[in-house]
Amino acid sequence: MRKQIIIANWKMNPRTAKETKNIFERIKNASKKYQRVEVVVTPPHIYLPLIKAGSRIKLGAQDIFFKDEGPFTGEISAGMLKDSGVSYVLIGHSERRELGETLETVRKKIYQAASKGFRAVLCVGEKEKNQEAFPVMVKEEIISALKGVPRRLASKTIIAYEPVWAISSHSGGKSDTPQNFFEMSIYIRRILLDIWGKNAALRIPIIYGGSVNSKNVKGFLDVKGASGVLVGKASLNPAEFIKILEIADKK
Ligand code: 13P
Repeated sequence: MRKQIIIANWKMNPRTAKETKNIFERIKNASKKYQRVEVVVTPPHIYLPLIKAGSRIKLGAQDIFFKDEGPFTGEISAGMLKDSGVSYVLIGHSERRELGETLETVRKKIYQAASKGFRAVLCVGEKEKNQEAFPVMVKEEIISALKGVPRRLASKTIIAYEPVWAISSHSGGKSDTPQNFFEMSIYIRRILLDIWGKNAALRIPIIYGGSVNSKNVKGFLDVKGASGVLVGKASLNPAEFIKILEIADKK
């Protein structure tokens, strides 16, 4: 049985340690019931030592640096993340790219995360809605990020398709459609096939992110070949996020 991967990306929230612990504990307790879901919570780095992964809940980081240690003010290493119980890392989120993260940096981070044994979640997505053609930007982001990453690390990679225009902070909560996600996931798999060949490409999970909530999640999880969702805003509301887990568990 392949579990649905449901990742809570808390971004730069919650405001306090107390709130962080409360939300996490509620999600952690609820997660015990769900055997068919891989629940991952990615808080800001500073909160990682306050919360503990469990048998049904994993910790993720929102970023990683590509060097092991040294004079890199403000950065967080793979070793530090491992030491904090992290097993997933988000890389190349559009909000980081908007702040200046380059294709080259994303590539180095993917390699670092996957080669150090994390599940590396490569975030890709076009900025504008484009109904005419498949976005070149997504292709470029994938090809560039995976350049030089050996096939043996394919099993460590997850692709999160996050159309930037459908992220709640841009769209006011309006998501993409499951049909578009379906078409994009086929397009993405074809790109992966060219890079790593059929066997690896077929096994890489592709998940959707962008205004996911308890009302629309089923549509995205029902998409053939899809493996889960990346949830931003709705993951900060424990009742709402637990509903998402419940729906995913029934898949
Ligand atoms: P929202 O769920 O708030 O739209 O955020 C999703 C996201 O950032 C996908 O990567």
